[in-house]
Amino acid sequence: MASHQGIAPALTALAGILEREKGRGLETVPLAPESESRLRELPARLLERKAVRPVIAATPEPEPAPVSKPPPASPPAATPPATTPSAAPPSTTPLGEAERRQALNAIFKQVKSSPEPRALGTLFDTVVFAVGNPMAEIVFVGEAPGAEEEKLKKPFVGPAGQKLDQIIQAMGLAREAVYISNIVKFRPKMGDGRFQGSRNRPPTQEEMASCLPFVRAEIEVLRPRVIVALGRTAAEGLLERGGSLASFRHQDHEFSGISVVATYHPSYLLRQESASAEEGKHAKRQVWEDMLRVMDLAGLPISDKQRRYFL
Ligand code: URA
Repeated sequence: MASHQGIAPALTALAGILEREKGRGLETVPLAPESESRLRELPARLLERKAVRPVIAATPEPEPAPVSKPPPASPPAATPPATTPSAAPPSTTPLGEAERRQALNAIFKQVKSSPEPRALGTLFDTVVFAVGNPMAEIVFVGEAPGAEEEKLKKPFVGPAGQKLDQIIQAMGLAREAVYISNIVKFRPKMGDGRFQGSRNRPPTQEEMASCLPFVRAEIEVLRPRVIVALGRTAAEGLLERGGSLASFRHQDHEFSGISVVATYHPSYLLRQESASAEEGKHAKRQVWEDMLRVMDLAGLPISDKQRRYFL
């Protein structure tokens, strides 16, 4: 769990989650025995003023590039919990970059040791967590890693990733300025995975539900201005309901109190482009409309050229 130094952000995150569950009408929250015993250890830990061990030490998977930007508008929460990424008391002080890295590292470690997604038996074992800037105002969320992502242990590094990079660039941003994650942190298997080769499949609702607490914990740490759900599957997983992408695109959504914009998955853009120039242009135009909305929500400047891109 959190080190002595990480206790405050962990409690902040816990309070945030409990607050939200209460808002949803939940009066009790099931607690894993391990989490309960860790919570019970807290008072003693707070008294351990001497031995302050850096529990969340090295910088692991999320390797966000330092990009300076104003502090986030909303007060962030922090470090996630044990088996069930949890959290707590609303902090008025926004988390700094180092604290966010620490908290993201803690989530990454929890994914690595979490039994729930593995218990399904339908996912490969390599964790593909996230990349990007811990201070990002825009978070892109895809569905699940594919073969290339699994190999490099980074999301969106294959052809879909290159398309996503182009979209980010058109917004006037570098990949390092945003945060890129997936709902499912493991590549989904086809059959028992032995003869899968480089083929991929979208994750199931069950697989997404097994990893959603980690995404929630990531968002609690980042508290971005906007989340972009890439494709129908990601939108369904994030919003926990079914629907067509067309319907998701035309509605306002929130995840943990943060605006969600749903748009087409970059792979869909690639498919449309190879179908015909016309189809490709149509899909690109729709994605660009969505990105203008994202830029608006993120408070990014939009040039005339960007506004008129498709007129
Ligand atoms: N598609 C996704 O949804 N995520 C990735 O990381 C790669 C492709």
